[in-house]
Parts: sequence; structure tokens; C-alpha cells
Amino acid sequence: MTHREALEKLKKYGQEHVLRFFDELSESGQAELLAQIEETDFSVLSEDTDGGKKDERVITPIKVLQLPQIEEKKEEYRAKGLEAIRTGKLGAVLLAGGMGTRLGSSDPKGMYDIGLTKHVYIFQRLIENLQDVVKTAGCPIHLFVMTSEKNHEATVSFFKEKEYFGYPADHVHFFRQEMVPATDYDGKVYMESKSRIATSPNGNGGWFTSLQSAGLTDIVDKEGIEYINIFAVDNVLQRIADPVFFGAVLESGSECGSKVVKKNAPDEGVGVMCLKDGHPSIVEYYELTEELMEAKDENGEPAYNFGVILNYLFSVKALKRIVNDRMPLHIVEKKIPHIDENGDLIKPEEPNGHKYEKLVLDMVEMMDSGVPFEVVREKEFAPIKNKTGKDSVESARELLKQNGFEL
Ligand code: UTP
Repeated sequence: MTHREALEKLKKYGQEHVLRFFDELSESGQAELLAQIEETDFSVLSEDTDGGKKDERVITPIKVLQLPQIEEKKEEYRAKGLEAIRTGKLGAVLLAGGMGTRLGSSDPKGMYDIGLTKHVYIFQRLIENLQDVVKTAGCPIHLFVMTSEKNHEATVSFFKEKEYFGYPADHVHFFRQEMVPATDYDGKVYMESKSRIATSPNGNGGWFTSLQSAGLTDIVDKEGIEYINIFAVDNVLQRIADPVFFGAVLESGSECGSKVVKKNAPDEGVGVMCLKDGHPSIVEYYELTEELMEAKDENGEPAYNFGVILNYLFSVKALKRIVNDRMPLHIVEKKIPHIDENGDLIKPEEPNGHKYEKLVLDMVEMMDSGVPFEVVREKEFAPIKNKTGKDSVESARELLKQNGFEL
């Protein structure tokens, strides 16, 4: 792309300032910037976002498969799930492309060591959880790990260095998610340096597109994988490839399953399962009105009482059907390091702009059917978002200890 073509493209989106330092750059710096402008999709910045748009759909409670019902059929579900795992029908996707800014470590979040007397890396904890099922089933499960440009090399070398924590290396596949430009509050793209636009990973909702672009759906097809269990990097207690969950979803014949926990307060900041115009969906906590928060079901229990924990099962057939459908973009406030008009680097202490993200929770409502599946909160939900306080290394350590893990 030439300078003139780049300028034309940028003008279309009101981003001409990207070329402000062009004349000062070396030849390679200029080439780097032109290549980045060429490959960047600025149109996402002018797409409709969720910001301020009111969802007019009618929200009603959804039936959740709750613990007592699950308990009754647990062995049946487990047998069904295990059999399907043994015939290779399940794959797993670890979402590890996030920046983990709240935790504040420059390494990928999964490299964080939560051990006290020995090393217990987050990645290691997750692999060990997966190994429990692999051992019971007697066969490995393909694990796809999503990274981003920002943490790919570090993640891959860490797994290699730690010998995949004992997991069969030929069943671990890495792929990168896409990046989108990050902007100030007026939608102007930030520059990370004079020759680079500041970008951030495009959220966890683009994972299937990225898996496909990386050519890894060939493995999915070749191996006959029919469902994918997708899970977050930061919940160190979650059960992965859980045969009971898988069996329940298969038995329900649903395209999707969502693990949920009982909320610990009506206003807890988790997405809540519901029906929107009769269709399984997730309502974000900030969309939950007081009326909905206080609503009761026929048994007098809170009607919107089950929060998602970013652990879902999706049917591959359904994923392929929706892969080209438009997903909403969510605007997230973040701290974005950038250079100012003098070219000096600024590392903000407070959020200073927007990232644009697609979210996996929006996939739930793109499925034709879905079953919310309750799990015991204290046994399966220990997210690590912060260093201390709520959803932190500290709180996760406590929960791990309660569950008999040595740290
Ligand atoms: P979070 O919403 O906690 O975001 O991600 P984050 O970027 O990791 O952390 P903060 O907000 O900067 O502190 C939930 C899950 O989705 C993954 C994360 O790695 C985590 O497993 N994720 C998030 C991606 O894979 N890609 C993204 O672009 C964003």
C-alpha cells in the first residue's frame, strides 16, 4: 500500500492522524506502518456497538437444569458423556487471548504462579483438571489454545518449557485471535509508537472464526469432533470436558450448554441466563433492571438467579452455521498505552479509551437451543481477575484450599 492509498483509507474513517509521524520514520518503519494500515479493519469502529442501544426484547425466566435434577441423573449423564468423549466427539478451547490488565502482570495470565509452597501455574491447574477426565476416559482430548499477537510467543514457549504439564503435545494446538484498533473516547485510533497503531485483542467472541482461519477446524473435522467445550483461562476450579455436563447437553439435544452458578447477590456482576423473546440468552448484569433483580418464580425463588461462568459447550455444526453471522461489538473502557502528539509514551493509570470486543456470551443466543446447567459455586467457580479482593488470586487460593488443593 502506498502513502496515498493509506491516506485515502484513513480519511474514510477520520483517522488521518495515524500518518502524523510518517516523514520521521525510517524506511522499514514506514513499511511497517503502511502494512498495518492495509491489514487493519477500521470499519469495526464505525459499526453499531452495544453502546446506548436499548434491547427491546422481552426478558422472561429460563428453566435451568438444577443440582437436584442433575444429581438424580448424574450417572446416566456421566456414562453418556464419557462414551462420547471416548469416541472423540469432544474438543476443548482455552480462551487465553485476553490482556489480563486487572491482574497487572506483563506475562500471559496463565503463566501466573498461584502456588505458595510450590509452583502452581494457572495453565497447570487447568491442564490438571482436564487430565482428570482424560485419565477416566482413557483417551486424550484435543485442546485448542487461543492466544493473541500480544502473548502468543510467551504462551507457546511456556507450554513447551513445562512439557505441556504432562499433556500429550500432539493434542495441544495454538491459534491467534484477531486484533482491532484501540481508540480514545472520541473514536480516534491511538498510536502505540510512531510506526504502530495501538491494537488490542478483539474479544473472546471471535474464537471460532479465528480457529477456522488458522486451519484448525480441519482437525475438528478429521477427528469427528461434534462439540467444543470453551472455557476461560482464569477460573482455576472449573471442570473442563466435564462428562456429566456433556452428557446432559447431549441428552437434551441442545446446540449449546452453559454452566451456571447461583448468584451470591441479586446485583452480582455476572451475566444471567434468561429467555429473550422466548430464546435462550444472557442478560448482562448492567442490563438487569431492579424489577428483574427482585422478580420471583412460582416457588418464590429469585427468577433470574443463575450467572454464567464462561464455560460453554457448543455444537460444531451450529458453530459452522453461524460463523459468518454478524456479532454485536461491545465497547470496553481500558487503560491504553499510547504516544502523545509529541511522540512521548504515556502509560495511563486510569482508563483512557475504548477497546472493541465480540463476546462469546452472544453466541449463546445465536444457537437454536440451549440448556443452562447448574454447578456448585464453591466447587467450580474461582475466577482470577485481580491480585487481591474480589475474584482475585487471594480469593481463588482460599477456594482451592477449601477444595483440598495444596498450594
Ligand atoms: P476478561 O473479560 O477477564 O478479559 O476475559 P481479560 O482481557 O483477560 O482481562 P482484563 O479485563 O484485561 O483484566 C475473560 C476470558 O476471555 C479471554 C480471557 O483470556 C479470559 O479467559 N479473552 C478475553 C480472550 O481470549 N480474548 C480477548 O480478546 C478477551
